[in-house]
Amino acid sequence: MNDFQPVTKPGLKVPQFGPGPVPNHVAIVMDGNGRWANARGLTRVEGHKAGEVALLDVVAGAIEAGVKYLTVFAFSTENWKRSPEEVRFLMGYNIEVLRRRRDQLNHWGVRVRWAGRRPKLWGSVIRELESAEKLTAKNSTLTLTMCVNYGSRIELLDAINAISKDVADAKLKPGSISEKTLGKYLNSGFLPDVDLFLRSSGEQRISNFLLWQSAYAELSFVDTPWPDFDRKELWKSILDFTTRSRRFGAAVDKPVKNKRAN
Ligand code: IPE
Ligand code: IPE
Ligand code: MG
Repeated sequence: MNDFQPVTKPGLKVPQFGPGPVPNHVAIVMDGNGRWANARGLTRVEGHKAGEVALLDVVAGAIEAGVKYLTVFAFSTENWKRSPEEVRFLMGYNIEVLRRRRDQLNHWGVRVRWAGRRPKLWGSVIRELESAEKLTAKNSTLTLTMCVNYGSRIELLDAINAISKDVADAKLKPGSISEKTLGKYLNSGFLPDVDLFLRSSGEQRISNFLLWQSAYAELSFVDTPWPDFDRKELWKSILDFTTRSRRFGAAVDKPVKNKRAN
């Protein structure tokens, strides 16, 4: 057991965040692997391989910062459009990473969960995700949700279809669907609202990730490609987050003193 890496890294201290609270839920679009690799004369899969260490470091940094939910986009329902070689690699790679890292994550007290669709996803990937979920089910330091074969629009459509069926079967009353009801039908329904939505690699888009939970998320777009990402990058975004004023539609009237327009 003592060959596991500790959460902390020698010489690296969590900054003093504030004045606001640390985000409870950070969602990350781990983007830029392919461009990182191609820029170095390597093939795209080498970029994916380089992203594993970044993920582990970010999980550790999230634990240190006091984040309770970390949700990462590993494979989207749109990523099937990529070459068969890349798709095959990513499927196998998800299995390998889970196998290689689940004991370390378990040792850190991380609860691993999966959000995504079953159809099309390799059975071997589902089995690996479910076995990591089972192994870590009792952990509570941080919940790491792996979004594999995940897409928000299809997730919402699946939920709407399931709800309409339950309405037809008289299990639900028409007109009674609340935010809570819909939440129960989403495969990511166990997740709380996203506080900080982070994307690496300079792209400034959502790409169909956690649309429902990110309605009031603070957005952070960081230029660093995912393979170069680490806990320090995460902390920078968290620090910025803790200085923002979240209003959720409300407003405070506070004219600056001694500044009267005439
Ligand atoms: C993100 O990196 C990882 C996955 C989508 C699986 P990309 O593979 O999208 O890398 P870029 O954006 O093409 O550089
Ligand atoms: C989003 O990144 C999906 C993952 C990181 C898994 P993409 O690279 O697939 O998104 P687009 O195509 O740039 O929008
Ligand atoms: Mg990309």
